[in-house]
Amino acid sequence: MKFFVDTADVDEIRDLAATGMVDGVTTNPSLVAKSGRDFIDVLKEICDIVPGPVSAEVTATDHENMLAEGRKLAEVAPNVTIKVPLTWDGLKTCRVLTSAGTQVNVTLCFSANQALLAAKAGATFVSPFVGRLDDLGLEGMELISEIRTIYDNYAALDTQILVASIRSTNHLKQAALIGADVSTIPPAVLRKLAHHTLTDQGLAAFLADWQKSGQAIL
Ligand code: G3P
Repeated sequence: MKFFVDTADVDEIRDLAATGMVDGVTTNPSLVAKSGRDFIDVLKEICDIVPGPVSAEVTATDHENMLAEGRKLAEVAPNVTIKVPLTWDGLKTCRVLTSAGTQVNVTLCFSANQALLAAKAGATFVSPFVGRLDDLGLEGMELISEIRTIYDNYAALDTQILVASIRSTNHLKQAALIGADVSTIPPAVLRKLAHHTLTDQGLAAFLADWQKSGQAIL
């Protein structure tokens, strides 16, 4: 499963990219606004840090302007992936952009039928938001299972499932068990993945015993 990091904070991206675990980045208008930086500038810097797909979302809601914005954003760097919302105008824009060779991430997906439409529109990625479904007391990961089953029923559907709105390391494990193609992970959750109390305790015990041996490797 590919790991994308879900942020527009370039310091976080640079730090996590250094681990070798970051396969791409997703941003959205809220994350860009939170960065406090010019959108094009921060997008260019992110694309310079991470060679994998970097999602940049259009803010227009009509097809004509979505297309114009998408084409402008795609010019920033070859690894820019255009994010469009799962609306009819977004699906139309997805079809045009992907037909021209631009990668598209169809976002704000909350149902299997929406994900089916995204795949039929030729989306490179579809972003089902699991955390926001959980927030309503629904089972966000059930949606991932449904989409996985539907996509696997039809060889012609080659859209990648990009699990989004991740709130916990458990979401990540479930996404991998289901066979999602990508998870986009908030930095704080990504950092938690390596942590286990028994690992910390075990390492401390190894080093304490090693210390007692009086030996050194170097
Ligand atoms: O960036 C897309 C998605 O991961 C955002 O999810 O619910 O944390 O705003 P959320």
